[in-house]
Amino acid sequence: MLLIFEKSFMHTTDIENKITQLRNNLSRYNYEYYVMAAPTISDYEFDQLLEELQRLEKAHPEFYDPDSPTLKVGGAINKNFENFTHQYPMLSLGNTYSEDELRDFDQRIIKQLGHTDYEYVCELKFDGLSISLHYENGQLIRAVTRGDGSKGDVVTDNVKTIKALHTRMKGDYPLNFEVRGEIFMHRQAFDRLNQQREEEGEPLYANPRNVASGTLKLQDSADVAKRPLDIYLYQLIEKTDTIKTHANSLNAMKAWGLKISEHTKTCSNIEAVFNFINYWDKERKNLSYDIDGVVLKINDYHQREELGFTAKSPRWAIAFKFKTEAACTQLLSIAYQVGRTGSITPVANLQPVILLGTTVKRASLHNANEIERLDLRVGDYVYVEKGGEIIPKITGVNLEKRNEATPPLVYITHCPECQTELVRKEGEANHYCPNEVSCPPQVVGRIQHFIHRKAMDINGMGDETVQLLYESGLLHNIADLFDLKYETVLQLDRMAEKSAQNLVDGIKAAVNIPYQRVLFGLGIRYVGETVAKKLAAQFKTIEQLQTASFEALIAVDEIGERIAESIIEYFQNPYHAEQIARLKAAGLQFENMEKEKVMESAILAGKSVVISGVFSQYSRDEIKHMVEINGGKNASGITGKTDYVVAGENMGPAKLEKAVQLNIPILSESEFLELIGKPANNTLL
Ligand code: IVH
Repeated sequence: MLLIFEKSFMHTTDIENKITQLRNNLSRYNYEYYVMAAPTISDYEFDQLLEELQRLEKAHPEFYDPDSPTLKVGGAINKNFENFTHQYPMLSLGNTYSEDELRDFDQRIIKQLGHTDYEYVCELKFDGLSISLHYENGQLIRAVTRGDGSKGDVVTDNVKTIKALHTRMKGDYPLNFEVRGEIFMHRQAFDRLNQQREEEGEPLYANPRNVASGTLKLQDSADVAKRPLDIYLYQLIEKTDTIKTHANSLNAMKAWGLKISEHTKTCSNIEAVFNFINYWDKERKNLSYDIDGVVLKINDYHQREELGFTAKSPRWAIAFKFKTEAACTQLLSIAYQVGRTGSITPVANLQPVILLGTTVKRASLHNANEIERLDLRVGDYVYVEKGGEIIPKITGVNLEKRNEATPPLVYITHCPECQTELVRKEGEANHYCPNEVSCPPQVVGRIQHFIHRKAMDINGMGDETVQLLYESGLLHNIADLFDLKYETVLQLDRMAEKSAQNLVDGIKAAVNIPYQRVLFGLGIRYVGETVAKKLAAQFKTIEQLQTASFEALIAVDEIGERIAESIIEYFQNPYHAEQIARLKAAGLQFENMEKEKVMESAILAGKSVVISGVFSQYSRDEIKHMVEINGGKNASGITGKTDYVVAGENMGPAKLEKAVQLNIPILSESEFLELIGKPANNTLL
């Protein structure tokens, strides 16, 4: 699949397009790997693509680009954001896990000040990423990440999507000021995101902090807005004549309209600090977000000056970090769960043990690599940890307690549910059971996915009913649903007449569900809700999608090679063709009934437009749509045929240079809107 573009068959523009596409995809994979910690392709696939790009670049030095992923070592991934040097470096805090060390810290303060007349302000230590916000005339003009402490990335548009920052400044705020704080994601939003990824068969994110940090670095602020982030501010940089303590600065910031945590306490001695710490160590599980400790800061600015800084951190503050609670318990056995897509997840069954107030009996082991890494053996005593996270993890084995006779663990070779031999694609971490037609959890999982609220939304039917119908031999696949009769359903255990009627009516109503949701319901690997929408918009009928080539698929915005391959594989399977034929016969919608695009003007008729960078008023997709409904065509790379470049913030320097060289008009977002006669959209500002 990867080598279909042979040099001798390709025109120069095809080669350039292919190079651009490979560069774009590889940068995205780098980003997913380094920033999101959630790679979407295997290392092997990545290396193959990189090799292909290297080969093409070597043969065509005329397309040299200093930003090419072939010229990057690993994670130089934040190139697309402008840098900004912090006026005052963003320092970190000294930290400790120990009560004794915290008392030592307090003693040093007393010694240096020469008295005990001081106060600490205790705050929660939010587990997110720090940000510096610059305000001018009450407006947020710049948001900069911590970066390496002395300079960070300018991520203003992305930060502006945070709802908590939408208020305009109030009261007598300074003309210019800088505040710092922490951006984070609430656990519920994180869980929702992971649930969505699970539905799409995507690997799950590790924790809210990783997602928050990855989200801030997304290129399209519209995508950021879809992932709700929140913020607490905890530091005012500007000193005014009236503000002389940290507590006052927090009050002032609050009065100006900035979001300040309400869980802050002024303490006049270290015992009061311990009370605060102990309270929050217990209470943190009831917060809607993760904290990993408590920060104590000297309240008085004068005293702070006296105490000063070390090279890395202030001497007037320290973080006390909560211990992640750990326990040692015995590994009794390993169970293997089979998911809807056939992926196998090993789960450790443990001798029950109490951790952070709850009994832990099981821990996820992710995949075979994890078992190998830990060299786990049944009967071993293992360390189990639970931080802020809900799912406990095994962090190691107590080798001293290992019985020498324990044999190494052999990973299963066959599906525990249907005994089919498992497969593991090259470079993938997970094993799969390929028997999608009759492996029970896969069959049931697929039907449950199909009837799900976001797919066919079948009224009167829930996961248990699917299980029951399957166990009774009445349901083997999604197409069977449409053969179910009222009389048959009624025979089920505990099925009342009304429920049976509701269920049958619910199934009948499925004919009204639009094509894009049917497509999502089919459960094609990697085709989640958003991808299904994109596919339905581009390929108006299922026949068009069934016969779409790899190139046609990857030409669709946001459809990468991995998704394209999965779609092709799905439709090549005769079993799926038969299922779709039956669903069609049952009257389901396999055609996009949405009206054709309503054209707004022909201002851009015959014009080729390239969109680049991050926009503040509209998303990239919205701008692309505007190009089309005004008669223009969207193109990905700048060539001599490009008529306009619409440049957002942080447009890549190579693209910019090329546009200038070729003398192509470069329009800002507002200039573009003006050109097509569209009013500006200020809702995000
Ligand atoms: S004060 C001079 N307050 O913890 C230090 N930091 O290692 C200014 N953090 O980089 C930071 N909650 O990202 C402060 N209430 C809080 C905090 C907090 C979380 C983070 C912050 C900082 C790191 C310190």
